[in-house]
Amino acid sequence: MDGRMSDRTMKRQVLLVVSLVCLSSVWGQVSYSIPEEMQTGSVVGNIAQDLGLDLKRLKSGKARIYTGEGTEYIALNAERGVLVVKERIDREALCGQTTPCALAFQIILQNPMQFYSITVEITDINDNAPAFKNNEIKFEISELAHTGSKYVLEKAVDSDVGVNGLQGYSLSSTDIFTLNPYKIGTDRKVEMVLKKPLDREKQERLTLVLTAVDGGNPQLSGTIQVTVSVLDANDNAPICTQAEFRSNVKEDSLKGTTLATVSAKDADEGPHGQIKYSLSNVPDGALGMFDVDEEKGVVTLNGKLDYEKFRHYEIDIQAADGGGNSDECKVIIEVLDTNDNPPAVNIMSTSTSVSEDVKPGTVLTMINVQDPDSDDNGRVHCVLDENSHFKIKSTSNNFFTLVTESELDRETASEYNITVTCSDEGVPSLSSSVTLTLQISDVNDNPPVFERSSYEAYIVENNTPGLSIFTVKATDADWNQNARVSYILEDSSVNGVPVSSYVSVSADSGVIHAVRSFDYEQIKDFQFRVKAQDGGSPPLSSNVTVKIMIQDQNDNAPQVLYPVQTGGSLVAEMVPRSADVGYLVTKVVAVDVDSGQNAWLSYKLQKATDRALFEVGLQNGEVRTIRQVTDKDAVKQRLAVIVEDNGQPSRSATVIVNVAVADSFPEVLSEFTDFTHDKEYNENLTFYLVLALAVVSFLFITCVVVIISVKIYRWRQSRILYHSNLPVIPYYPPRYSDTLGTGTLPHVYNYEVCRTTDSRKSDCKFGRAGSQNVLIMDPGSTGTMQKIQSEKSILDEPDSPLEVSFLEIMKYSQCI
Ligand SMILES: *[C@@H]1O[C@H](CO)[C@@H](O)[C@H](O)[C@H]1NC(C)=O
Ligand SMILES: *[C@@H]1O[C@H](CO)[C@@H](O)[C@H](O)[C@H]1NC(C)=O
Repeated sequence: MDGRMSDRTMKRQVLLVVSLVCLSSVWGQVSYSIPEEMQTGSVVGNIAQDLGLDLKRLKSGKARIYTGEGTEYIALNAERGVLVVKERIDREALCGQTTPCALAFQIILQNPMQFYSITVEITDINDNAPAFKNNEIKFEISELAHTGSKYVLEKAVDSDVGVNGLQGYSLSSTDIFTLNPYKIGTDRKVEMVLKKPLDREKQERLTLVLTAVDGGNPQLSGTIQVTVSVLDANDNAPICTQAEFRSNVKEDSLKGTTLATVSAKDADEGPHGQIKYSLSNVPDGALGMFDVDEEKGVVTLNGKLDYEKFRHYEIDIQAADGGGNSDECKVIIEVLDTNDNPPAVNIMSTSTSVSEDVKPGTVLTMINVQDPDSDDNGRVHCVLDENSHFKIKSTSNNFFTLVTESELDRETASEYNITVTCSDEGVPSLSSSVTLTLQISDVNDNPPVFERSSYEAYIVENNTPGLSIFTVKATDADWNQNARVSYILEDSSVNGVPVSSYVSVSADSGVIHAVRSFDYEQIKDFQFRVKAQDGGSPPLSSNVTVKIMIQDQNDNAPQVLYPVQTGGSLVAEMVPRSADVGYLVTKVVAVDVDSGQNAWLSYKLQKATDRALFEVGLQNGEVRTIRQVTDKDAVKQRLAVIVEDNGQPSRSATVIVNVAVADSFPEVLSEFTDFTHDKEYNENLTFYLVLALAVVSFLFITCVVVIISVKIYRWRQSRILYHSNLPVIPYYPPRYSDTLGTGTLPHVYNYEVCRTTDSRKSDCKFGRAGSQNVLIMDPGSTGTMQKIQSEKSILDEPDSPLEVSFLEIMKYSQCI
């Protein structure tokens, strides 16, 4: 309409309708039409012009707008004569949905008073978008809901009217829900329809957008979010995650060991998806063996596995959800062998004793070994403790034989403890062992062996017959009868006499006895062989040489060879009166058949008519003068020289040396005549002497017989006497006859003491001979020695009867 109107921003919407109702009447009426929401100050219409009033009149008439009580939306600009928007006009606030919507007011003038009705129609503009009350609509729909189910949605409101009002709805893209067609004015509800089944497991939540649009230009819209939560239904069964669960477990695993963890999945949620595991199908052998955790599905061992009984288990585990759906998961358990069984060693047959001469390779024992474990754990080999005599041989699988490997010797080892140890090849290896005791029985394979290769023994002569000399000993390494040694004297001869007449051997003890009394002067040594033989069959034997040496005893007195002691004739050495000092009168010559010290002789002057005249060389027996011979010296000199050996005790002989100190033989004769005068008398005396000797001898023999009888009687009485002590007829060694008055006696016995052929004196005494005429029988050599000692002490005593008898003889000789 006018140029200023066209400047307005809303000029397109502003429809200015000037309705000239009454141009000529005082009370005119003008209508205008303006869109809502025009800016304040916007010109609604040129009222002055439209009413035909000039501006002065408006001023003078003090034109003003009268609205009564209502709000003055439109103001009058009297200067310009236009109506302007005074306050924001919101059609929806003024009229709501009422159409048409108009503002009616009056313009009042004064001087004169005039009023004009003005109507301003407010036209709608699309200033309101459709709006929902809420931001969101929520649905909870079970996934089992049927297709075709309808769900009422919230409606939108658009305050605008007409085309600017709500025109329709649309639902954001979804192929699950669709919106029922909606027609404005006819449909009371906005509905969406389930087109396809829901599946919570696929889509738990659907978010849709419902859009409401109006018809304005530009079109406005409002949206609301439609949220659909799909409620779960137990429409899914649990499913095992694996077709089968496998577990390899060692047989020695402890109770509680985890074998496998079964798992099943259930697409449902909540109780419908909560799976509980349980054993469902357990074979008989596995009852109670396994456990499964209800919640976690962990399969644990609840019993003791034994590979040797069961190697394989198949158990079923049920996986059930809270809604009663279930699945079965298979668990396959393979038991692995561990080396838990030591080999069992069984002796099938054994010999407890074996002869020491068995051949190497002889089977002693058969052994069977069993190990229930498998593979290496059950593979067994057997060994022996270090015992080189035996070895173990594997014959076939698990069968072994114990055989001898080398020769056996009972004498080295009579018993063996053989330990057989069998071990398997597991890691660690297990083993067991048995000990067999094997006795080695004896075979006579060892001859007796003497302790020495040869024996030498000493025996002092004049031993008692039956005296045990010494003992040979042989040992035999065998056992029992095979080791019982007996001793046998081997036949041989000594000086042509069987050795058995010299010695005997005790078969049991090996003691060698002298059978006779030995005489050193006859035999100094001899040898023989002793055989030792065992009791085996056949017997074995060995022999040994025994040498017996006889030791000398001083049993022989020295024997004077010169001067010859004759009974009748008188021998005298001549010493001239002119003989010087040191004149060799004669030499006493003596021998001793003993040896060594026992034959070492010394000479002493025992008695002399004139001791100052002669001496005797200690070693050589030479009789020499020690001073000048004088005329006063008697013609007839008589010396007694004693010859002693060096034995213990020593033995001696005395020799009378007659010395004639004279220059001529007649002188000697005159001195010695009285020796020859009494020839007849001497013969008589000899006769009496012989008679006396015969009587004495008779008495002696009687005595011997009596003593022997007494001894035999005593022996019979005594049973404890050893056989070597048996009274044996003594062996009398041959001896030199002591011619005249040997001062000492042979130690065994001596009855030949005094024998003179030329004795004239009847007072010759034989007491000595009688007193010594005893048979001495000593059980042992020690006894003999004691006897010797006692005799010696007798001999040493000067006043002993022996000495006395000797002196008697001397007297007798002197009286000749
Ligand atoms: C064999 O064993 C037995 C019993 O243990 C024992 O008495 C014996 O001395 C042992 N023998 C050997 C030769 O070790
Ligand atoms: C005595 O033993 C030797 C070997 O030591 C043997 O040669 C000899 O024949 C044996 N003598 C007898 C009589 O058995």
